[in-house]
Amino acid sequence: MSKAGDFAPVRQDIAKLLHQPEYDDGSAGPVLVRLAWHSAGTYDAETDTGGSNGAGMRYEAEGGDPANAGLQHARVFLEPVKAKYPWITYADLWTLAGVVAIKEMGGPDIPWLGGRTDYVDDSKLPPRGRLPDAAQGGDHLRWIFNRMGFNDQEIVALSGAHNLGRCHSDRSGFEGAWVNNPTRFSNQYFRLLLSLQWKKKTLANGLEQFVNYDEDSETELMMLPTDIALTQDKAFMKYVELYARDKETFFADFTKVFSKLIELGIVRDGEGKILNTDNQKGGYHS
Ligand code: HEM
Repeated sequence: MSKAGDFAPVRQDIAKLLHQPEYDDGSAGPVLVRLAWHSAGTYDAETDTGGSNGAGMRYEAEGGDPANAGLQHARVFLEPVKAKYPWITYADLWTLAGVVAIKEMGGPDIPWLGGRTDYVDDSKLPPRGRLPDAAQGGDHLRWIFNRMGFNDQEIVALSGAHNLGRCHSDRSGFEGAWVNNPTRFSNQYFRLLLSLQWKKKTLANGLEQFVNYDEDSETELMMLPTDIALTQDKAFMKYVELYARDKETFFADFTKVFSKLIELGIVRDGEGKILNTDNQKGGYHS
């Protein structure tokens, strides 16, 4: 049993549970990255509401948002870790799991600090609709991500996470993976955005996505309308091209932007202690 606040064994146990032969592409990694991102991506800079602190997705108001469909799988994967280290908060566990998963899948080492609490301030509950809608275009992406405090370059860098995992018809309604090896973090997503021909396809449920079918390997890859939007806007396209040709720059920029994402709404002192949370107040507790 490790002592409270010792995250090294927690990291090791998260790394061990990534291997899931029965699940998706054999890894819990991608869905854990999505959990970390959706836990943080509710942040609104203007009202200082939402963000990873509080782990609000445990409750119906946020967890039941259709945008979060499927993320219960990620939370269930992490339950044994929470049971083994009861001192860790869900807010820390979810963000740490994303960071560990990215590293284990060959991605960069993203700085992570603990200290988030599971206290949810009822007056600061984020309304639904703060996460992006994949059926939209570039204006929507700016609207959603500028609200969190991200610029064009950061939007493109963050989108590179679609190198991981897949879409599920029973979750978002979209279907398929972006790259051939969706459990390996790389800049392949950007390279394929530029190098393949993407054709619009209407799914049985009426949603439109973009696909490329490769005759030789008989595999179909996909892009969401929001992914294609990055190639249809000059300001975004500049960074798609940069990240497609320069993996090191993508890794460096992704590292910065993902660590910024999981710190949204959190204020720390010089020693890293979180200042703007009050675990003693009423409200939800884990
Ligand atoms: C999956 C939309 C940004 C990481 C998905 C899915 C959609 C989506 C529709 C499929 C969900 C499913 O059916 O299971 C979007 C949109 C974004 C965006 C519209 C706006 C730019 C991001 C960001 C990250 C991210 C910023 C992380 C930094 C992921 C991952 C998956 C995923 C890892 C795969 C999950 C799995 O395999 O279960 N996204 N996303 N996405 N997204 Fe995004």
